[in-house]
Amino acid sequence: MSAHHDTHPHTGHDRASGFDLAMAHLLELDAEVLGSCLTELTGLLAEHTDTAPARILDLGSGPGTGSLALARRFPAARVTAVDVSPWMLHRLREQAAAHGVADRISTVEADLDGPWSGIGAGGPYDLIWAAAFLHHVADPARTLVQAFGRLRPGGLVAVTETDFFPRFLPEDTGIGRPGLEARLHAATNTRPPHEWTGHLRGAGFTLQQRRPFEIRLDGAQAGPSLNAYAQACLAKLRSHATGTMDADDLDALDALLDETQPHGIARRDDLTVRTTRTTWIARRP
Ligand SMILES: C[S@@+](CC[C@H](N)C(=O)[O-])C[C@H]1O[C@@H](n2cnc3c(N)ncnc32)[C@H](O)[C@@H]1O
Repeated sequence: MSAHHDTHPHTGHDRASGFDLAMAHLLELDAEVLGSCLTELTGLLAEHTDTAPARILDLGSGPGTGSLALARRFPAARVTAVDVSPWMLHRLREQAAAHGVADRISTVEADLDGPWSGIGAGGPYDLIWAAAFLHHVADPARTLVQAFGRLRPGGLVAVTETDFFPRFLPEDTGIGRPGLEARLHAATNTRPPHEWTGHLRGAGFTLQQRRPFEIRLDGAQAGPSLNAYAQACLAKLRSHATGTMDADDLDALDALLDETQPHGIARRDDLTVRTTRTTWIARRP
């Protein structure tokens, strides 16, 4: 594990950074389009905290949309963002500087599947945030026990997961057979939603709230980045669809993903966002 505060990305132009670049782009669009959900969530945390958190830990921070939202919500707090990807942390530091909070956000490059040796060395945290992260680790139960050990008594953990990948398209896009997006999801996105209540209790936490977020935004509510967000999400699903969908559906999807086409996702004015997320807020007694 090592702390990084330098300014250059370590992974250069290798394959990992190419993947991270696309993922960071998607996560930043997600935070922009679904910003109202993020604001509501940090507001909910402010209601649950006994005192304003001074020390916050963001596990699997990615490019830092959560770290930034927390730094905004809690202006006296210092946030430590941990991720295994140096490129994500590089992006996070760029964003923190752009938002004027670089002095309150520090980064730690670490594989959280390993020992958390340097994490919490400066004292226990008041709040731990883990968004779209827990399902990535090898042993979520152990990760929650490690998080429990880094929190002060009375401190909170907030775990968020996307239950279903977002949907954007109308039933009939005018290209190919109706119901394309439903078939794409059925072919590529088959896992059931994550459920962490038992894991949190098993680690010693007291569940404060299990909060589902039903998100239904039309184009006006979603704002100007909706098309780019839909394009990034559907392109990600498309990359898993070869061999799992009929050839005519793949052709229709490729036509929709063609940014030069007038009926393509990048230019359509009939997109919406439909998705659900769940957040678990739990306290260390
Ligand atoms: C889906 S992204 C979520 C990022 C961010 N929390 C968000 O909501 O935008 C998952 C992040 O977890 C990181 N990650 C996955 N496994 C990890 C591990 N074992 N240790 C540390 N970070 C990990 C990835 O590098 C990635 O940045």
